[in-house]
Amino acid sequence: MKMTIKLLAGTAICLMASVPAFAAEYRIAVGDGAGGTQEALGKAFVEALEKESGGEMTGKLFVNGQLGDEQDTVTAAATGTLDFSILAINNITPFSPSVGTLTLPYVILSQDDAEKVTQGEVGQQMVEQTIEDAGVRIIGWGYSGFRVLTNSKKPVSTVADLQGLVVRVPKNEIMIETYKSWGINPTPMAWGETFAALQQKVVDGQDNPYMTVNAMKFYEVQKYITDLRYIFSIEPLIVSEALFESLSEDEQQHVLAAGEAATQASAAFLREQESRIRDELVSRGMEITKPADDEKEFIELATTNVWPKFYDQIGGVEVLNGVLASLGRDPVQ
Ligand code: MLT
Repeated sequence: MKMTIKLLAGTAICLMASVPAFAAEYRIAVGDGAGGTQEALGKAFVEALEKESGGEMTGKLFVNGQLGDEQDTVTAAATGTLDFSILAINNITPFSPSVGTLTLPYVILSQDDAEKVTQGEVGQQMVEQTIEDAGVRIIGWGYSGFRVLTNSKKPVSTVADLQGLVVRVPKNEIMIETYKSWGINPTPMAWGETFAALQQKVVDGQDNPYMTVNAMKFYEVQKYITDLRYIFSIEPLIVSEALFESLSEDEQQHVLAAGEAATQASAAFLREQESRIRDELVSRGMEITKPADDEKEFIELATTNVWPKFYDQIGGVEVLNGVLASLGRDPVQ
């Protein structure tokens, strides 16, 4: 009976060399290419899941969007045709607006902030909200670092430098409005189409963390990096709520414990790898520019113009104030 339910939830049961023949193997979609934080989170999850379940549960990673574009994997998991997915939080926001609080520009200002918010009470509220809104459960948090701007045309250090560039953004209203606050109209585009669009010069640039720029080999088609810190990219591991509910209590505990272990592994991975990856991008010919005046102009334009536009969507200004309070920062009025 249990197997039938799992099969209905889109799960392949197969024989693995390292786990018993009866192990349930779950399909895990990974939006990015191999070698990035998403894959590291996924590998840590699979390893912990096998350990927690005594080899009865395992998972197989499908990197590079093989199981669908990031936003499409949310729908697939919600309808039970996909088991797990690892994706950027900005690609969950369209299905569960309250997690948009973590995509508002300049709210998360460090890796410590990201860990504190996601692993504390605010993170738990977002887990519950996402189950209700989107039919998926966040069981682990990946950390990829700040989204830096890359482009193929010129060094950018001021808002004025940005004018005239065609920048791809995810289909995410907050990110679209952020670029508008900086004076340009960005091009919303699915993640899976981004490399080709950069290569064919349909767009000049995009933003994503150093780790992602490297995993996606964007250094082949982009030259300039601006060290923006407007969004710290949080990359949740989600499970289909339909699948989760079909598991026994013990199996649910294995999934949750493995998600927790993967979260800790992801935080350590970013701390250990980010500066090495940044240096690697430079050695591959990319040029890094610091925003002028400590990014002040970018910060002021984005926070004053974008935040108020999204208070209703995220569930009220008090939701943002809850996040700011948990980080020891002053509330907005
Ligand atoms: C996006 O830009 O759509 C995402 O941040 C991609 C990712 O998950 O790395």
